[in-house]
Amino acid sequence: MGDTDLFSPLTLRDLEIPNRIAVSPMCQYSCDTDGLPTEWHRVHLGSRAVGGAGIVMTEATAVEPRGRITRHDLGIWDDEQASALEPTTEFIRDQGSVPAIQLAHAGHKASKRKPWEGNDPITPKEGGWEVLSPSPEAYPPFGEERPEMRKATGEDIQDVVDAYREAAERSLSAGFEIAEVHAAHGYLLHEFLSPVTNQREDDYGGSFENRTRFVREVTAAVREVWPDDKPVFVRISGTDWLDDGPESWDVEQSARLAADLAELGADLIDVSSGGLHPDQDATGGPNFQVPLAERVDEGGDIAVGAVGGITEPKQADAIVRNGRADLVLVGREFLRDPYFGLRAADELAGEEAPAKWPIQYRRGVR
Ligand code: FNR
Repeated sequence: MGDTDLFSPLTLRDLEIPNRIAVSPMCQYSCDTDGLPTEWHRVHLGSRAVGGAGIVMTEATAVEPRGRITRHDLGIWDDEQASALEPTTEFIRDQGSVPAIQLAHAGHKASKRKPWEGNDPITPKEGGWEVLSPSPEAYPPFGEERPEMRKATGEDIQDVVDAYREAAERSLSAGFEIAEVHAAHGYLLHEFLSPVTNQREDDYGGSFENRTRFVREVTAAVREVWPDDKPVFVRISGTDWLDDGPESWDVEQSARLAADLAELGADLIDVSSGGLHPDQDATGGPNFQVPLAERVDEGGDIAVGAVGGITEPKQADAIVRNGRADLVLVGREFLRDPYFGLRAADELAGEEAPAKWPIQYRRGVR
C-alpha cells in the first residue's frame, strides 16, 4: 500500500488532476438538433464539477453525424458545436475540475431511437442513416435487421480517422483538457478490434496487428493535434466476455494493445468491458472490471482507470491506495449523487475536507 489515495493529485503530462475521481462518460440523449449541447448538458456536467469530481467527462460525443447512436447525441463535427461547449468547459475549470471529452463513433450501433423511446434501429426511410460496420455479415443478432448497414471501405476508415483528428482540434478550441478515444462497448473501434465482429480480409482484419490498426491510427491522429502537455485517454472493453464462445477480444490482447497505445503517446487506458455481443457472460457487481484494469496495467508503461460498480468513497479509495488503478471513473453513482466527490471528501479527507468543497457550500461540511 503506497501513500497515494483518492485525494492525491494525478499528474499526466503537465496536467494536474486534483483528485482520482472522474465522472464516467454517460450519454444524455438530450440534444434537440444537430449535436448541439443544451442547458441540460451545462447543468448536468457543471453540477458534477461542483460535486467534487477531479475530471468531468462528456458523454460519447460523435466525431461525424453518422457516428451518433441517436439523433440526440452530442456532436463535435462542426465549429458551432465546439463554441457551444465552451461555457461548459469554462465552468468546469472554474470549479477546479478538469473538462474531458469522449470522442466517439457508434459504428453499427448507430441510428437508433433513444433508450426511453425503445432503443430500436431507425432506417433511413424513417429518418435514420447509413451505418458503418467492419463486416455486416458478422453483426451479432441483437434481434434487429440493419439493412442500412454498410461495410466500411478504406476511404470510410480514412474519413473517420480524419474526423477524429478534426474533432480533437475542435475539442481543444472548446477548452477541453483531456481527449478520450472511445474504443469500447461494441462501437466502431471495438467492432474492428474484436474478431467476433471483424471478419475483414484486408489490412484492418485478421491478425492482432490488423484488427488494432484502426484504433492505433485514430489514437495517433488525436495525439498529433493534442498538445504535448495534455493527456489522451483511450477507453477499451477489456474483454468481450465471450471466453467460452467464438474467438473474441480478451484481456491479454487488451494488455498488448495498451502497450502499443502507450508508444503512440496515449497516457491512460480507461478499462471497461463488453457491449459487443448479447451472449456476453459478465457478472457485474462491485469492482467487477477492476481485475481487467489491473491486468492491462501490467501490459505497459501507462496509467489505467477502473470503472464499474464503484459506488462508495472507501471502495474508490481502496482501489487507488492498493495500486489497482490510477483513477476511478464513476458512472451511475454520479447520477444518484452529483456530489459524490464532496461526499468522498467529507468521509475521507478529515480536516482537509472543507477546502475540497466549493466555498459557497462549506457550511454543509460535517
Ligand atoms: C453509460 N456508459 C457509457 N460509457 C461510455 O463509454 N460512453 C457513454 O456515452 C456511456 N453512456 C452511458 C449512459 C448511461 C446513462 C450509463 C448508466 C452508462 C457506461 C458508463 O460510463 C460506465 O462505464 C458504466 O455505467 C459502469 O460504471 P458504473 O455506472 O457502474 O459506475
